[in-house]
Amino acid sequence: MIEFKKLFCDLTKSCSGKQEDTEKVALPQEQKIFTIQSLISATNNFENKLGQGGFGPVFKGKLEDGREIAVKKLSETSKQGKREFTNEARLLACIQHRNVVSLLGYCAFPEKLLVYEYVVNESLDKLLFKSGKRDVLDWKRRYSIIDGVAQGLLYLHEDSHERIIHRDIKASNILLDKKWRPKIADFGMARLYPEDKTHVNTRIAGTNGYMAPEYALHGNLSVKADVYSYGVVVLELISGHKNSTFNLVPECQNLLDWAFKLYEKGKGAEIMDPTLATSADPNQVATCTQIGLLCTQSDPKLRPTIRQVVVMLSKKGGPLNEPTRPGYQGVKTRRPSRPSSSSSSVGASSQADSVSSRSTTTGSTWAFAGSTSHAHHNHRGSSYISSVSDPHGKRPIEG
Ligand SMILES: Nc1ncnc2c1ncn2[C@@H]1O[C@H](COP(=O)(O)OP(=O)(O)O)[C@@H](O)[C@H]1O
Ligand SMILES: [Mg+2]
Repeated sequence: MIEFKKLFCDLTKSCSGKQEDTEKVALPQEQKIFTIQSLISATNNFENKLGQGGFGPVFKGKLEDGREIAVKKLSETSKQGKREFTNEARLLACIQHRNVVSLLGYCAFPEKLLVYEYVVNESLDKLLFKSGKRDVLDWKRRYSIIDGVAQGLLYLHEDSHERIIHRDIKASNILLDKKWRPKIADFGMARLYPEDKTHVNTRIAGTNGYMAPEYALHGNLSVKADVYSYGVVVLELISGHKNSTFNLVPECQNLLDWAFKLYEKGKGAEIMDPTLATSADPNQVATCTQIGLLCTQSDPKLRPTIRQVVVMLSKKGGPLNEPTRPGYQGVKTRRPSRPSSSSSSVGASSQADSVSSRSTTTGSTWAFAGSTSHAHHNHRGSSYISSVSDPHGKRPIEG
């Protein structure tokens, strides 16, 4: 019961910004505290698993009033999951946007569970990276996902009550509703972001293939790290290929490398998923490819803000800047110095893709490619970062 009270206080505190306001400020009315019995019955004793991420499994359920729900269950052994639980509940309690998943409520005792609206077409990765299902996503739908995720991020970065960096934008964290509108999900790693700071230094937690170089190498976190991950998702949507497991062209290290090499030769359109041949608008595809490359520039200053992306997509902006070579997680430069538990997870399943690192620990080491990258030197003067894979994929959020 104490834990429950603490969470409730934490939630109300974070919405109000002040602890002493706890009694005055209520949670948004739609949000509810669920009993464990009601969730056991809604999910038929956690029978239908929708997905598994770093935090724990997610199950489908139905409330007595008929509403379908998704219930995220904290894995009992996970200490870090408790922080992610509070973090996600706290942040989602305060935000509401059509392109962000809605938290209906939670159960804090005896188990920790988060209850969301069920998003009918589930996550983008389940469609985009499965060859039999990709053609469901025609160009119109993909373009509306590109646009909707940008709108959702704009809300998080600039328009919400608090400025929020999501930190784990990727295909499996984008849910699609019945009209194929995207909703950004999974706020376990998100961070509040002080308005007067350009970046914060933090522990590194994210997913291989989606993490911006300055963040993965130095722990420098800013809204531009989300812009980078967004750019990867845009190029994945256009091509139907997953960046971290890209192996179509042996001489290209990943999707970004391939996209840029073709773009340089004036053949950017060739990255397009062949299933889009009949539905694509070539101008929109070209604009989105350029946006994807601009968002994944190595130097965060060369990346647009998400507001600028929204303007580019609305066609109200002028001509787009020319991208230089993107920055990306590239050459493996040294073997892990730790035994088995610290292997890298590039190219593994989506759960194992999640990595967490501290620039002071040892493990796999990575360099970054990209024209303006500060690769090989972090702020402590060390030449490498280390990436320690975590059984639960993610790490707690720092202070
Ligand atoms: N509200 C929802 N509606 C439908 N499917 C969901 C919902 N929330 C999560 N899922 C599914 O469960 C997976 C894991 O959920 P996520 O919130 O990303 O948790 P984690 O923190 O464990 O990664 C998602 O990739 C998605 O497939
Ligand atoms: Mg996830």
